[in-house]
Amino acid sequence: MVGIDRVYNLGIIGYGSMANSHREIIENSNLRIKLKAIYDISEERMCLAQKQGYKTYSSKEQLLTDEDIDIVLVATTNESHKDIAIDALEAGKHVLCEKPVALNSEELNEMILATAMHNKVFTVNQNRRFNRDFINMWRTIDSGKIGKPYIIESRVEGSRGIPDGWRTNKHQGGGMMLDWGVHLIDQILYMINDKITNIFCVMHSINYSDVDDNFSLTLTFESGLVVRIEVATNNFIKRPRFYVFGTEGTMVINEWDGCGTVIRKIADDNQWKSEITKVKAGPTKTMAPRNEKTIEKIILEEPTDVNDSLEPVYEQLIDAIEGKELVIKPEEAMRVMKVMEAAFESAKTGIALKVEI
Ligand SMILES: NC(=O)c1ccc[n+]([C@@H]2O[C@H](COP(=O)([O-])OP(=O)(O)OC[C@H]3O[C@@H](n4cnc5c(N)ncnc54)[C@H](O)[C@@H]3O)[C@@H](O)[C@H]2O)c1
Repeated sequence: MVGIDRVYNLGIIGYGSMANSHREIIENSNLRIKLKAIYDISEERMCLAQKQGYKTYSSKEQLLTDEDIDIVLVATTNESHKDIAIDALEAGKHVLCEKPVALNSEELNEMILATAMHNKVFTVNQNRRFNRDFINMWRTIDSGKIGKPYIIESRVEGSRGIPDGWRTNKHQGGGMMLDWGVHLIDQILYMINDKITNIFCVMHSINYSDVDDNFSLTLTFESGLVVRIEVATNNFIKRPRFYVFGTEGTMVINEWDGCGTVIRKIADDNQWKSEITKVKAGPTKTMAPRNEKTIEKIILEEPTDVNDSLEPVYEQLIDAIEGKELVIKPEEAMRVMKVMEAAFESAKTGIALKVEI
C-alpha cells in the first residue's frame, strides 16, 4: 500500500555510533519509519540492540530476506557499503547508504547499475545539506547582501586528531577527504549550479601515516568562482566555518548554529585617494582603515526554521518511494566522488588538474 499513512519498516546493517544516532532520531520523530530489525557483525552491538528492544538477526541474509523490511540503512564502515547496498537492492529493498557512499566511482557505478536493474530508490545520507550553518550561508548569498560571491571558504577544524579505529585505515576508507570532505564538497555542488574546471589539493598526514588527516582543496568553477574547502584535525586556533568574499561585501559564519556577520559596502571610500597615509600598516593607501560611514554591519541570526537533523533525509527518501523526485541523487554522489578522486590525484602529483565535473 502506498499512501500518506503508510509506515515503512527499516532494517539497519551496521549498528555503530552513527546508526544509533539514526535510531534516536527515528524514535523521537514523527517520521513514517519504524525501526524493525538490526544486524551487525559485532556481538556487543547486537546485545545493545537487543537491550534496546529491537529484533536482531544472526546474518545479513536473514535481514535481507525478511519481507517486512522495506528500507535498509547501510551504516557499516566505508569499505563494505558497496556490497551490502547491492545485496539489499537485489533483495528488493530501498537503500539509504551512509556517506561516503563508496570508496570510488567504479564502486558507485556498480551501485547505480544495481539500482536501475532492481528499480528501487537508492539515496545517500548527505545530511549536511540540511545544516543551519550551510543554509544560512546559502540564503545570505541568495539575498544579494554581499553582491556576487567570488571566493567561498568552507572549513571544519579540530585539534584532537582522527577518532581511533577504521577512520585511520586507508583500506577501510579512512581519512578526512572521505569523512568530512564528502560533506563539504556535496554542500558546494548542491548549492552552485556550474561546472568545475580546475582542482588542486594538498593533503597532509600529520598524525596518521596511512590517511589524510588534514587537507586543503581548491575548486575553480567555470564562472571564475573559487571555493576553498579545508579540513584540519591538528589546528589549535579554529577559523570560521564559512568565509565568503562578495563583490559588495564579506560574510562570516562562525559556527554550526549559522550565526555570523555581513559587512557590506553602502558607499565608496575615497578618503585616502590622493595621499599615501601612515597607518599601523606603514605607509599605504590600500590597507588604510575604511571610513565606517561607508559600510553597514548586518548580524546573521541562527535560522531556527531549518530542521538540522536526519529527518529531511528520510522524508526525501519516503517522498521518492512514493513517486516524487529524489533530492539526494546517486548521480550527485557520483559528481562528489569524481571531485574527491581528482583531489587525491592532485595531492599525489602536486599538479592542478583541468577537469570538467
Ligand atoms: N552522515 C554523517 O554525518 C555521519 C557521521 C558519522 C558517521 N557516518 C558514516 O556512518 C558509517 C559508520 O560510521 P560509525 O561512526 O557509526 O562507525 P562505527 O565504527 O561506530 O560503526 C560501524 C559499525 O559497522 C559494523 N560493521 C562493519 N562491517 C560490517 C559488516 N560487514 N556487516 C555488519 N556490520 C558491520 C561494525 O561492527 C560497527 O558496529 C560510516 O560510513 C561513516 O562514514 C556518517
